[in-house]
Amino acid sequence: MAEARIAVHTEATIDQIAPEVHGHFSEHLGRCIYGGIWHSDSAEESGLRDDTVSLLEDLDLPVLRWPGGCFADDYHWKDGVGPRDERPRRRNLFWAQGPEETPEESNAFGTDEFLALCERLDTEPYLAANVGSGDPQEATDWVEYCNYGGDTELADRRRQNGHEEPYGVTYWGLGNENWGCGGRMTPEQYAREYRRFATYVGTTDALLLDHDLELIACGYEGHEWNRRFLEEVAGAPWGKSFPLDHLTLHHYYGRTMSVSEADEDDYDEFLAEALEMERHIERIAAAIDAVATTRDIGVIVDEWGAWHPEATAESGLEQPGTVLDGLSAAAVLDVFNDHSDVVTMTNIAQTVNVLQCLVETDENDAWARPTYRVFDLYAPHKSNEAVRTSVAAPTREVADDDLTLVGASASIADEETYVTVTNLDCLEEHTVEISLEGDCPSETEANGEILFADQAPDLVATADNADEFVATELAISADTDGTCTVELPPATVAAISIR
Ligand code: AHR
Repeated sequence: MAEARIAVHTEATIDQIAPEVHGHFSEHLGRCIYGGIWHSDSAEESGLRDDTVSLLEDLDLPVLRWPGGCFADDYHWKDGVGPRDERPRRRNLFWAQGPEETPEESNAFGTDEFLALCERLDTEPYLAANVGSGDPQEATDWVEYCNYGGDTELADRRRQNGHEEPYGVTYWGLGNENWGCGGRMTPEQYAREYRRFATYVGTTDALLLDHDLELIACGYEGHEWNRRFLEEVAGAPWGKSFPLDHLTLHHYYGRTMSVSEADEDDYDEFLAEALEMERHIERIAAAIDAVATTRDIGVIVDEWGAWHPEATAESGLEQPGTVLDGLSAAAVLDVFNDHSDVVTMTNIAQTVNVLQCLVETDENDAWARPTYRVFDLYAPHKSNEAVRTSVAAPTREVADDDLTLVGASASIADEETYVTVTNLDCLEEHTVEISLEGDCPSETEANGEILFADQAPDLVATADNADEFVATELAISADTDGTCTVELPPATVAAISIR
């Protein structure tokens, strides 16, 4: 008798899962860029770490957000272009307390280095412009430097710096957390700033570029802040064009759950907190619906992930990478799939060494964390059509909510249904029956993989054990009516593809 049942409603399509939902975020913070992606601040030809880059190449990142974070609203991009030995050294305002080697910004890794990394990874860049301490001129100049093909001083400067053709950067964020480190603004204040910046950056797009830009405003987890921001932006006389393509939110979870001291009750609370992502997406979508539609303005979650007490400013926001973190990433990716009609991009924080990074490095090695394995397992969902699932599973009470102990999402492409399933129960195994409803194939051919079957939830990935976290084959009992049954050990993530 199955304890949990997942029905996949193959005809109840949601929308295409934007590949950008598997996006990433890298900031000039601790050892993310310097030490993690870039070797040092030397004036070498290229300081990219091949070991990190090769792991990222295998992951096929669709989009990478840079340079912050809080750093973005204190960053002046002109400091980071031109000959490396002539670039000014600056203090890193927000992250100066980090590891010894990174309290100051050498500017060795700047726009051209970042865009070269994106070209090597075949990744779309997402640049976050400085609204907090910058001005519209600086942001507009950055667009011109990156994207203009004409005969201006800035376009020529890009050519002199080694890039003849415009880079064609599409995604431009105007500010980061402007309710906090990005200027402590009220929603109305930020809306006015946003309008000013969007006027200049947006006009560059309309008049000068052979390339459409997508402008991104920074929102908040709370509905009220977003509502006030959007009303103020919408109040301007835009005519038919509303220069806002996406509105963002950030959601971190686990701030009270120390990795080294946590027990099973904490695990439940942590996972329930991760799943609050759903409520935040629904609230921001509702705020958008009041002034436009989520077709016109998409939802981007451009920072998300586990943030444990171990990640302090002094540690450069570094924390151990566990199976439990990987499990939380799977649960959140399922939420994104279920909201593919509104979520246009997400960026996990942060790619290397910082917070829920996917890749960790020391001086000699780079290795994949459990969260990396989850992104790999979920990759086949990218660009598929998401379909509804319903889950009947046991629950357990947490603080002021219930945690459903099994989760899932599903998508379809070329008559293949891809179902990801999480056993969020860190104590018990669950038998899960999966059935396809609607347009079912008459014969079922199913195969699958499972992550973390032999690892405890608190197991930390290191250079020595990183390979133990790879997916293994999942035993599936498949019936001819489109039903499959799987046994999922505690704290595991599975993917089943059914034809
Ligand atoms: O990702 C770390 C920090 O978290 C970012 O700089 C900021 O945007 C957020 O508060």
